[in-house]
Amino acid sequence: MSFKIIEQAPARLNRSELAVPGSQPQLFEKAAKSAADVVFLDLEDAVAPDDKPQARKNVIQALRDVDWGSKTISVRINGLDTHYMYRDVVDVIEQGGERLDLIMIPKVGTAADVYAVDMLVTQCEAAVGRKKRIGFEMIIETALGMQNVHEIAGASKRNESLHFGVADYAASTKARTTNIGGANPSYAILTDKDDAGHRDTHWGDMWHYAIARMVVAARANGLRPIDGPFGDFSDPDGYRAGGNRAGVLGCEGKWAIHPSQVALANEIFSPSEAEVTKAKRILEAMVQAQKEGRGAVALDGRLIDLASIRQAEVLVAKAQQIAGAR
Ligand code: GLV
Ligand code: MG
Repeated sequence: MSFKIIEQAPARLNRSELAVPGSQPQLFEKAAKSAADVVFLDLEDAVAPDDKPQARKNVIQALRDVDWGSKTISVRINGLDTHYMYRDVVDVIEQGGERLDLIMIPKVGTAADVYAVDMLVTQCEAAVGRKKRIGFEMIIETALGMQNVHEIAGASKRNESLHFGVADYAASTKARTTNIGGANPSYAILTDKDDAGHRDTHWGDMWHYAIARMVVAARANGLRPIDGPFGDFSDPDGYRAGGNRAGVLGCEGKWAIHPSQVALANEIFSPSEAEVTKAKRILEAMVQAQKEGRGAVALDGRLIDLASIRQAEVLVAKAQQIAGAR
């Protein structure tokens, strides 16, 4: 390990993160009763410009009145390039009470963006004498944000998670696609001809680089990497495939832009019983190996070593965290 110790963000379950437009208060109670680990009340892109002031009022009232149980509650503020953003922060903190856990900063581009929001939040918290510190979730969804993702991740002690905002990221990078997340048939490899002259097409994952890069920046700074939206809510298999790919790369959760996606995300980002059993067997085998003075052993015909302990511990810790939240 490096001599540098990575301070970890407060531990929170973040398997599913349900997006709820602030302009649709009729959805708030249902969201509160859902199985989502995190709910974010949106003041940004799901809310039309004329509805912004009313949406802000709705969100403030919901923070005060709705029983959110043990959920993590976040508010997505507007971008720093708009005139809505300062009032989002000021009004939500001054009038919303203590319940809010996180502020989600969209389209973050530089570490200075985070610094600016931190300054404003710090002043508001002090002014109202808030006891609980508000954390930050940041959406990496522009070319600038991706270029500066490492500095952004380390820009504030409030930082808790990085989110891949695939829709805006596609727009910002001028990617040739219009769906929200998921695969694109144009991003494919054509195999050479076989003896019969046949060629196969293998679809690739056009988001691989972006998500992998965000995961590294998040983990190197003790933050949770979270995969963003999947627009086609009538395609659970597509959602599952995307979530699994992100999970394999290290993401801890995924957005749900429709209530039906919450259960899918919770399932994808909870280790299965078989995985946990295997992890526990690895830990037992390594305890035995260490007693015998060996650093590596074979388990089920495969090599396991000290790195396997760390992999297995991650899985077991996640299973314990989920069990503890039930
Ligand atoms: C989320 O905000 C996205 O742009 O995908
Ligand atoms: Mg976006």
